[in-house]
Amino acid sequence: MIALRCLGCGNTQSVPLRAAIPFVCPHHGDGGTHILLPILPNPSAHGQTSESQPFLRFADRMLAFHRCTEAHSPSLYRDVVAQLDQRITALTGRSFQTTPFWRSESLSVYFGLSSQGGVWIKDDTQNPGGSHKGRHLFGVMVELLVEDALRNDAKQDSARPLAIASCGNAALAAAVVARAADRSLRVFIPPDAEPQVVKSLRDLGAEINICHRRKQESGDPCYLRFVEAVSQGAIPFCCQGPDNGLTMEGGQTLMAEVLSSLHQEQRIPSRIVVQVGGGALASSCAMAVETALEVGLLMQRPRFDTIQTESAAPLARAYNRLSVAYGSQRPNIDEAEWHRIAANKQEYMWPWECVPHSAAHGILDDETYDYLALLQAMNRSQGSALVAAESDILAAYELAQTSAQHPVSATGSAGLAGLLTLHKNAPLFAHENVVCLFTGVKR
Ligand SMILES: Cc1ncc(COP(=O)(O)O)c(C=O)c1O
Ligand SMILES: [Zn+2]
Repeated sequence: MIALRCLGCGNTQSVPLRAAIPFVCPHHGDGGTHILLPILPNPSAHGQTSESQPFLRFADRMLAFHRCTEAHSPSLYRDVVAQLDQRITALTGRSFQTTPFWRSESLSVYFGLSSQGGVWIKDDTQNPGGSHKGRHLFGVMVELLVEDALRNDAKQDSARPLAIASCGNAALAAAVVARAADRSLRVFIPPDAEPQVVKSLRDLGAEINICHRRKQESGDPCYLRFVEAVSQGAIPFCCQGPDNGLTMEGGQTLMAEVLSSLHQEQRIPSRIVVQVGGGALASSCAMAVETALEVGLLMQRPRFDTIQTESAAPLARAYNRLSVAYGSQRPNIDEAEWHRIAANKQEYMWPWECVPHSAAHGILDDETYDYLALLQAMNRSQGSALVAAESDILAAYELAQTSAQHPVSATGSAGLAGLLTLHKNAPLFAHENVVCLFTGVKR
């Protein structure tokens, strides 16, 4: 029996081994925040194997792995991962592997850090699809494929189309993974999506749906059309936890790799700065931090800072509201109180009112769908919701090119912009070890 728990309302449910895994909490749609996450037993600290493939290395953080073990078919999981990765490699020339992570000497000097401290960069730009997004979607696909193999009545499900709303990296990663698995994909994109990206999506066989803003409609029209497609039977093949909690599993592998490497280097991270659009990336990172604390890889909580641009900062707005409601001293908010916060979503999170513009266009989501785990992570670690000026976004983008092994986009280097913003207000301590993510390639 597999169990899942909603981060929002706390509802726990068990799912029989050969039944379909629900993507959403039964209370989804009641106006509150619900994110259904698998409960997984005894995760390993450094991964259960030394393999470079993240989904083999961190297999025990995947529900699919536990389902296969319970069904006495441990090789099924491995076969599904290996075959999907092989197909992706055939399609893109790239496979999923542990991505580069290093202490940047030039950035460490720039921020005045000593040899005991440093700026540590995780470079996810060379993943299939050119960003970290593939991690989320590879994970979801592994769950779908394992489910197809385990269920007796799965045939009609494998005919269901997949759906995603995105204008860039997430759509590309989804199209690569869907194509590799021979599944049809409906992509909901804005009218101004980059022509090069749209061409790549077409070449990968995705069905393109251009979504115009409708009068009297608030929120992202692409997301609204995606929700409609899902209500008509499409599978939410997305990077938003409330629509598919399983997307967090694969996302976690990124920070799991970082924390394992730092531990091996005998470094203790003092802070982690993560760029936030819809919030799934940072939420997955926060979950990996929780796991690291649980398994003893971390003995203390690093500060968890998030960064958005000044042009769209709904998470910073939500964090301010939390401080107003609970006091700026960031008290220890207990679990029951967090459930109340989740139930009162409208007090904290709603679509940003103005149409945003920034070079970091991948983090301009008008709503931080995965805000809840981030409020928790910042509150528990005394972290901040940074809001970077466009000048810092551009400065970080320039700085990143000189310290990166591969060209990184302004969205991809926005974590570094957060560090610039932070450092201006309160300089970093010389011995700090700070983690930044380069998440997307410059196209
Ligand atoms: C390169 C890159 N980095 C970071 C993000 C932010 O991820 P999330 O939307 O999960 O917050 C995105 C989202 O599109 C992205 O494309
Ligand atoms: Zn719920």
